[in-house]
Amino acid sequence: MSEQPLFKVTIDNITIEVPAGTTILNAARKIGGDVAPPAMCYYSKLQGSGGKCRTCLVEVSKGSEKDPRPMPKLVASCRTTVMDGMEVKNITSPKVLDARAGVVEFLLLNHPLDCPVCDQAGECHLQDLSYEHGKEGTRYEFQRRTFKKHNIGPYIQLHMTRCILCYRCVFVADQLTAKREHGILDRGDHSEIATMIEKSLESDFIGNVIDVCPVGALTDKTFRFKNRVWFLKPMDAHRDCPTCSGKVTLWNRGDEVFRVTARKDEWGEVENTEDGKPAWICNTCRFEKKQTSDWVIEGPRMISRQSVISQGHYAGNIGMHKPNETFSAVHGGRQPKLMMDIHTASEVNKPNIELSLINGPAHSTDFNSKKD
Ligand code: SF4
Ligand code: FES
Repeated sequence: MSEQPLFKVTIDNITIEVPAGTTILNAARKIGGDVAPPAMCYYSKLQGSGGKCRTCLVEVSKGSEKDPRPMPKLVASCRTTVMDGMEVKNITSPKVLDARAGVVEFLLLNHPLDCPVCDQAGECHLQDLSYEHGKEGTRYEFQRRTFKKHNIGPYIQLHMTRCILCYRCVFVADQLTAKREHGILDRGDHSEIATMIEKSLESDFIGNVIDVCPVGALTDKTFRFKNRVWFLKPMDAHRDCPTCSGKVTLWNRGDEVFRVTARKDEWGEVENTEDGKPAWICNTCRFEKKQTSDWVIEGPRMISRQSVISQGHYAGNIGMHKPNETFSAVHGGRQPKLMMDIHTASEVNKPNIELSLINGPAHSTDFNSKKD
């Protein structure tokens, strides 16, 4: 097989070389950080994904070395391949940031403000996206969409009102299960993912729709309302599973396993196993192995320091230390200016309470600061 030629591409003023055929999004992911556009529908492990949500729009300010004309419109970076000498603007383009704010506004038109009771809170890509690119208010004055409730079995909870129609779950059903079990019905704002006539989803791998769903439309029924992810400790673990790779992340509180998920990479996608295949996990591992004794624990899962999930974890009790705050050192002793210190405004998450030392689920009494 002949080697793919390398193309030079410059994204937000950073130049890299990638094989011909690479998309702008994947080239930007190689650079990493904020240069990588957000992606709500593209999922590198699912064939055909991408091109639905438009959150990954970028500006191509130079088409290629041979034809340097800019592209006339913003393009979906997950579906556009690089050309040699191409120049792309993501966060350096005001047009892109403006368009992205518009896309977020559209995605939120019908999305309910469920975050305080949604199991996806803390790991919801739409929450992150709207925090970074969204507006603070809505201009939408109509009633939001509602749907007839579908019961899709004992393991998976569907909240159709939260769905952004990214199609990822449909690709999982198509590509991971023996027969297609659900798809998208109807058109426009009537579109909904549905099981054909509310049939239970029986495939061993259908639980993976929970891991790919970027919002709280598909969540784990066995974990529902049991805890918040930022109170749990993610631990890498494995078991000898006859059906799947058996490599998972356990979400623990003390010795109790609250939830089992696949291991995710920095883009929120399922990691690959050593043989380069995505480590999708089976329903037995995900829903039925909820004892610590079912697993060989490997150690704590690394979670981005920026994530709410990493707050208050691990310090002291398993040999890891919270990183030093460097802000005041690099700002000549000046402290950061906060709009509001959450600890003075809220009764919960007092910094003097070590969440990881509370046995079992936390109760309001654990945070009671009134002195008797
Ligand atoms: S349920 Fe989730 S994964 Fe499926 S289409 Fe809706 S948002 Fe995407
Ligand atoms: S991630 Fe590119 S269109 Fe959705």
